[in-house]
Amino acid sequence: MAIRGVAFVCLASLISAQQINSAHGVIPATSGTVTPAAAVVAAKGNFAWESVQLTQSVLTNLTNLNLTNIALFKYPTSTAASTSQCKVFPGDADWPGPVTWEILNILSGDALIKTVPLAAPCFTSWPEYNATECAIITSSWSDPHLHVANPTSAQWPLYEGLTCVPPSLRSEATNCTIGGYAAYSINVTNVAQIQLALNFARNLNLRLVVRNTGHDFADKSVGAGSLSLWTRNLDSLEFYKDYTYGSYSGPAFVMGAGVETADVYLLAEQNNVTAVGGECRTVGIAGGYIAGGGHSPMSSLKGMAADQVLFMKVVLPSGEFVTASATENPDLFWALRGGGGSTFGVVTSVVVMAYPKIPVTTMTFSYSISSTISADTFWNGLGVYMKYFPTFPDAGSYGYFNIAPNAAGNLTFTFDPFWGANMTKIQTQALVAPYLSDLAKLGIAVTPVYTEYQSLYPAWNASFPPEVVGGWTNHAGSRLFPRENFVNATLLNETLAVVRHAIEGGAILVGYNIKSAVNPHANQNNSVNPAWRETLTHFILPGLWDADATFAQIQNVSETLTNDWLARWRAVSPGAGSYFAEGDINEPDFQQSFYGSYYPQLLAMKKEFDPWDLFYAPTAVGSEYWYITGQIPYIPTQNGRLCRKT
Ligand SMILES: Cc1cc2nc3c(=O)[nH]c(=O)nc-3n(C[C@H](O)[C@H](O)[C@H](O)COP(=O)(O)OP(=O)(O)OC[C@H]3O[C@@H](n4cnc5c(N)ncnc54)[C@H](O)[C@@H]3O)c2cc1C
Ligand SMILES: *[C@@H]1O[C@H](CO)[C@@H](O)[C@H](O)[C@H]1NC(C)=O
Ligand SMILES: *[C@@H]1O[C@H](CO)[C@@H](O)[C@H](O)[C@H]1NC(C)=O
Ligand SMILES: *[C@@H]1O[C@H](CO)[C@@H](O)[C@H](O)[C@H]1NC(C)=O
Ligand SMILES: *[C@@H]1O[C@H](CO)[C@@H](O)[C@H](O)[C@H]1NC(C)=O
Ligand SMILES: *[C@@H]1O[C@H](CO)[C@@H](O)[C@H](O)[C@H]1NC(C)=O
Ligand SMILES: *[C@@H]1O[C@H](CO)[C@@H](O)[C@H](O)[C@H]1NC(C)=O
Ligand SMILES: *[C@@H]1O[C@H](CO)[C@@H](O)[C@H](O)[C@H]1NC(C)=O
Ligand SMILES: *[C@@H]1O[C@H](CO)[C@@H](O)[C@H](O)[C@H]1NC(C)=O
Ligand SMILES: *[C@@H]1O[C@H](CO)[C@@H](O)[C@H](O)[C@H]1NC(C)=O
Ligand SMILES: *[C@@H]1O[C@H](CO)[C@@H](O)[C@H](O)[C@H]1NC(C)=O
Ligand SMILES: *[C@@H]1O[C@H](CO)[C@@H](O)[C@H](O)[C@H]1NC(C)=O
Ligand SMILES: *[C@@H]1O[C@H](CO)[C@@H](O)[C@H](O)[C@H]1NC(C)=O
Repeated sequence: MAIRGVAFVCLASLISAQQINSAHGVIPATSGTVTPAAAVVAAKGNFAWESVQLTQSVLTNLTNLNLTNIALFKYPTSTAASTSQCKVFPGDADWPGPVTWEILNILSGDALIKTVPLAAPCFTSWPEYNATECAIITSSWSDPHLHVANPTSAQWPLYEGLTCVPPSLRSEATNCTIGGYAAYSINVTNVAQIQLALNFARNLNLRLVVRNTGHDFADKSVGAGSLSLWTRNLDSLEFYKDYTYGSYSGPAFVMGAGVETADVYLLAEQNNVTAVGGECRTVGIAGGYIAGGGHSPMSSLKGMAADQVLFMKVVLPSGEFVTASATENPDLFWALRGGGGSTFGVVTSVVVMAYPKIPVTTMTFSYSISSTISADTFWNGLGVYMKYFPTFPDAGSYGYFNIAPNAAGNLTFTFDPFWGANMTKIQTQALVAPYLSDLAKLGIAVTPVYTEYQSLYPAWNASFPPEVVGGWTNHAGSRLFPRENFVNATLLNETLAVVRHAIEGGAILVGYNIKSAVNPHANQNNSVNPAWRETLTHFILPGLWDADATFAQIQNVSETLTNDWLARWRAVSPGAGSYFAEGDINEPDFQQSFYGSYYPQLLAMKKEFDPWDLFYAPTAVGSEYWYITGQIPYIPTQNGRLCRKT
């Protein structure tokens, strides 16, 4: 790959930690001396803000201002990584001082935000202390919109380190520190800001994170002592009825990196088309979701969300802004669709294809262990359903269900719902009839409720309520059990037994009967975990504890989850995998489970596009070469220093 710019210099020797020097002394960093470093170049992106870029002539202009160490913002000229073992951390001599941060702020157009943790108003140790504000934050803590609108907040703060949560929600929360949250964020609204930040972090050896909605369960969007790119406000969204790209001609969405799922589904509804997205409203569809593969209520019909991408715009770790498609940078295009976020660059926009409107029929019912349904019968009910695991997705359906204790403490099976994609009520009833008959033979009488909808939007809106976030009372692992586990009766029984073992041990099951359909109209040549192409399940297994659990208690359940419950799941599906976007952060041999046979290829691409190791996230490609200081086993928090393993 071509690396542009001028001679590489060892910047550490040029940089004063506290100030920007000019040839004639310190330049006061004001908007009078320095202006935003951006130029509008001939349109190269999907949106006008993608044409606002940090060009070489902008950098040259800055140099003319006599800011001798404007080298902080230079593009690289070498692939040499920093020789320091650790990323520079607040308090280190090389940590940029306030004037340097202010220069970044001015160059980025006043977009730099110094982190104040979301719950800081609850603590007298912070100047933001305000009891009224604290009460508002506490009462809406489980609302994802509160976190999405904050530059740094993690929606699942366990691996942040729980260093600043509302004190009335956890008895150990007696103080608020910045912990695993980024030190500073850039409120990104154009490409130039991303380029400035990548150059700045690379040249100063700072930790960099990309933070969109903060939905990630493993807290891949936080990191102590980091500069964070907050991409949520890249929320441009357009629909084209007839979009032509390469051999594709048809409906398409053009989405900025910060767009939320709900907005895409609504625009699809208004235009009589169907989008391939996830089930939750505020997940960033063009951010971590597509980067991880993206499973959908449409997957058994059309494949993964990543398969629907026509092309992407991305800022590489070098700072270069490029197109990734089947014809331009095809290797990068392959890696960006499944190989994970925060690894190969910062995606700014994505173009995805859409499908004609389809009817959807949902079915719901539940049954519990009771005086008439013994525990064995209850589990045989799941075994009966598993016999149909090949049949149902092959017909295009998606079964979403869970097994959890009810108020009486007995286990309940709930369809939440069974989802007949492109099916009428009559078609759905015909599909499930043999299964319901088998359940009845076991003595499990159910009362299915069928609802037929004209399109995805009302079916989705009625089936998937707004998500509830903010908690730290569970951690989940997951498994993609392949077809073989359900067509071979012996293996089916073994699979059922290991599922039962985990639930009877105290976990709950969030089950999907799903497949990634073969779709000749989509581009399925991508890095989505190959296990997705074989699977008939995505079984998520949360282990539970209460809000006041100590780290020792959390450790205990997490260890059981990884080394007992999930170990048995792995043993009955050797060589299969797990979905890292909803997976166990402690997964042993995560390279195999999360990336399968694509791992060597992905790692080679990571080294090619990011030889500086600018991007890091837990369990991301290449993360095995790094560690975070101060972590305790099974609770790999992000509130230490990021260092290279030696
Ligand atoms: C309630 C809930 C429901 C979910 N439902 C589904 C579902 O139905 N199907 C499914 O497949 N998944 C689902 N997920 C998992 C979801 O796909 C991941 O959490 C995903 O990573 C969220 O992406 P985000 O951009 O919203 O979150 P963030 O936490 O902000 O980002 C996630 C990761 O992607 C990186 N990233 C984000 N934007 C960019 C970018 N522009 N460029 C480079 N890297 C980027 C971040 O650095 C981070 O590593 C669900 C998660 C939750 C919490
Ligand atoms: C360089 O600076 C000059 C003078 O301030 C300005 O007119 C010009 O637009 C700048 N060019 C770029 C690319 O920033
Ligand atoms: C930069 O320094 C030169 C002399 O070295 C001086 O003439 C010029 O005015 C300075 N420019 C700015 C913007 O300070
Ligand atoms: C405290 O927070 C409330 C609610 O946001 C706000 O109305 C009020 O102005 C704040 N008080 C101070 C002193 O900032
Ligand atoms: C509480 O947090 C503040 C702000 O981060 C910090 O200065 C202080 O040392 C902390 N106090 C304790 C007892 O940890
Ligand atoms: C971030 O930028 C957006 C778009 O300019 C703006 O509306 C929002 O207020 C900014 N948020 C913060 C916290 O600065
Ligand atoms: C969508 O379909 C409805 C009903 O067929 C029609 O009335 C409407 O005009 C269509 N809308 C668009 C944007 O095509
Ligand atoms: C898939 O894409 C990769 C990366 O561009 C390419 O090398 C390979 O030939 C493609 N495979 C097929 C079957 O098209
Ligand atoms: C719970 O299950 C037991 C049998 O294990 C049964 O006796 C009891 O009635 C059940 N309770 C409810 C509320 O169904
Ligand atoms: C839905 O099914 C019909 C046949 O029943 C088919 O013609 C149509 O293409 C399907 N729609 C989609 C989006 O797959
Ligand atoms: C979506 O669901 C809510 C209830 O959760 C309902 O109030 C609203 O009318 C629904 N919207 C549509 C378009 O179906
Ligand atoms: C699987 O389990 C069921 C129910 O316990 C049993 O009837 C069946 O014989 C078992 N099948 C095999 C192949 O072990
Ligand atoms: C079914 O699975 C069992 C257990 O893994 C295995 O021993 C057996 O060979 C399999 N049968 C077939 C026909 O693949």
